[in-house]
Amino acid sequence: MTSSLTQVYPIIWQDDHVLLIDQTRLPKEYTRIEISRYEDMARAIKTMIVRGAPAIGIAAAYGIYLGARDIQSVDRQEFFTQLEAVADVLRRTRPTAVNLFWAIDQMLKTAQETNGSVEQVQQALLERAKAIHAEDIETCKLIGDTGLNVLPTSPQKLNILTHCNAGALATGGYGTALGVIRSAWREGRLERVYADETRPRLQGAKLTTWECVQDNIPVTLIADNMAAHCMKQGLIHAVIVGADRITANGDTANKIGTYSLALVAKAHNIPFFVAAPLSTVDFKLETGTEIPIEERDVSELYEVGNTRLCPTGVEFYNPAFDVTPAELIAAIITEKGAVKPGELRTLK
Ligand code: MRU
Repeated sequence: MTSSLTQVYPIIWQDDHVLLIDQTRLPKEYTRIEISRYEDMARAIKTMIVRGAPAIGIAAAYGIYLGARDIQSVDRQEFFTQLEAVADVLRRTRPTAVNLFWAIDQMLKTAQETNGSVEQVQQALLERAKAIHAEDIETCKLIGDTGLNVLPTSPQKLNILTHCNAGALATGGYGTALGVIRSAWREGRLERVYADETRPRLQGAKLTTWECVQDNIPVTLIADNMAAHCMKQGLIHAVIVGADRITANGDTANKIGTYSLALVAKAHNIPFFVAAPLSTVDFKLETGTEIPIEERDVSELYEVGNTRLCPTGVEFYNPAFDVTPAELIAAIITEKGAVKPGELRTLK
């Protein structure tokens, strides 16, 4: 049996600007905002109008082009100096997702390698940003289909738990973890998605369930602290999550709460998979202890909408990501195949 899938594209290049789905407004409102300046792109990444590791990388690539386009100097050396300043602003938006740094490096490399006038370099940068964008969509489809080979074969239709949003909204389109889920749905291998709500920003509740509803994929929302109970009841056959940065040994940084999910999956003998493009693997880092972990504003913890959840006088700690040790991961699913974490280097 196959089921048709809709297409959600969080980032669109149109005429001379970028259109972003404003992910801070979903699921209440589906709106797009227009981005024409690199400073606005940096702000959109920081405030999570666009979020999810691959989507952040694509947005930063267009951000580099938008910044390059506004540089007035026709002197190559001066142009590169100003371009480096643009890159610096974009680099300082979010520290954990390595795709941001990967995409910026790709763009700067393209600039350096393009001979000719500043105008020719600017044109090459736009083409490279579009290519990074298009390649990501294709990569996600490959990841989705590769994932089918490692999913448990029994039962025939699986209940899959996911955390945060590693879907079309977090990528160029289709998604990584949700890409595998989409491919499983298309092939009649999926019974239902269990979506962790993902405190504090609720990407699971707001975004993953929204994507599932768009595709008519059956989805059950659970609070984060319900996962172990659901596993104990036999409701979950596999867990699939995305990644923000994977180190050479397979340790994986992903949305806060991923690590505890991997631990409870292990305790219940349920396979725990990470789905991510190779651009999320940081081969320069050996282990997860080297990954910088973003801490976000503590208002994310004490407020929901306009409601304050706790009295004043409380202190807060708000790390946005955690690191799941490689030994808890059954396989890392990439566009070049699914491997055990310790075998990542073979795909380099
Ligand atoms: O803080 P966010 O919403 O950007 O965090 C997103 C995640 O943790 C995703 O799981 C990860 O970026 C992979 S997206 C394909």
